[in-house]
Amino acid sequence: MADKKIITVLGATGQQGGGLVRAIQSDPSGGFRARAITRDVNSDKAKELAKLGAEVVAADVDNPESLKNAFASAYGAYCVTFYWAHFSPEREIAEIAAMADAAKQTGLQHVIWSTLEDTRKWIPLTDDRMPTLMEKYKVPHFDGKGSSDHFFTDAGVPTTFLLTSFYWENFIYFGMGPKRGPDGKLALTLPMGDRKLPGIAAEDIGRCAYGIFKKGKEYIGKTVGIAGEHLTGAQMAAAFSKALGQEVRYNAVPPEVYRSFGFPGADDLGNMFQFKHDFEDYFCGARNLAVSRSLNPALQTFETWLAANKNHIPVE
Ligand SMILES: NC(=O)c1ccc[n+]([C@@H]2O[C@H](COP(=O)([O-])OP(=O)(O)OC[C@H]3O[C@@H](n4cnc5c(N)ncnc54)[C@H](OP(=O)(O)O)[C@@H]3O)[C@@H](O)[C@H]2O)c1
Repeated sequence: MADKKIITVLGATGQQGGGLVRAIQSDPSGGFRARAITRDVNSDKAKELAKLGAEVVAADVDNPESLKNAFASAYGAYCVTFYWAHFSPEREIAEIAAMADAAKQTGLQHVIWSTLEDTRKWIPLTDDRMPTLMEKYKVPHFDGKGSSDHFFTDAGVPTTFLLTSFYWENFIYFGMGPKRGPDGKLALTLPMGDRKLPGIAAEDIGRCAYGIFKKGKEYIGKTVGIAGEHLTGAQMAAAFSKALGQEVRYNAVPPEVYRSFGFPGADDLGNMFQFKHDFEDYFCGARNLAVSRSLNPALQTFETWLAANKNHIPVE
């Protein structure tokens, strides 16, 4: 065990990090061992990771000293932030800067940073096709991440920049699944028109990240985008209909309607979907399915994911 390379996994009790811990620990001959980071080593989720053989260590991404302790003596780290826990790009940016600094100070040999695009490179603040939010962002939960990639590069940390995709789990946990309309019929509401949305099973993000670590230096300094499939709203609705055994219609709404839905972050998500819609070629092109499958041969399609998860989707 001592000769295994340690990968420190932030967000280990969550979706991205959890998938990576499970991928590492289910491959005993892979040469790696997971150090699972959580704020509460006594939670049920933390105990489950310990049962898999992961080392469970307490740290908080808002406490730079605890990050250094989390990274000490590790070979690599999976860095991810938790935008929806606080809705603050500034806080996210400070956390990313602290992660890069801790990675540099502890001499990590490979960091995977789970980033997203700074959409302002495509839609500057002066472009009024979508509203500017919080005075300086178009898609706050993307822009803070993308504008912070440089912290790793500036610090000279050997980094792979991982562009993730929309988790299909959002249909279970984020209230985005099919809902019954006034006509009693189920509808999947998204502001994607006829464009394709790259999606992925959250567990596969961690598995792809594990594939990147296993490739050694190949992906250091590179940006890798991953997705399980690129599907239109109509294709997803058809897959839902088949899996649920009842008709699910695709309800394409304009982004301004989505932004007005009123739930926390609706404006951010409305802008996000509009970015994905307006820059479909770039956005899908940056998330290559063959590369994703080469990193993770078990990569799920939407249909496979639905077959395994349809009973968890809250349908009234
Ligand atoms: N939903 C999507 O479709 C999607 C797609 C792409 C990217 N993303 C991005 O994914 C990120 C979230 O990743 P995720 O979905 O894997 O997270 P998650 O499932 O919400 O889990 C996050 C875990 O991180 C831990 N955590 C939260 N705050 C922490 C802190 N201050 N210090 C240390 N640990 C902390 C929590 O663990 P403990 O309670 O055990 O400490 C929690 O279990 C977000 O930034 C989001 O923008 C989401």
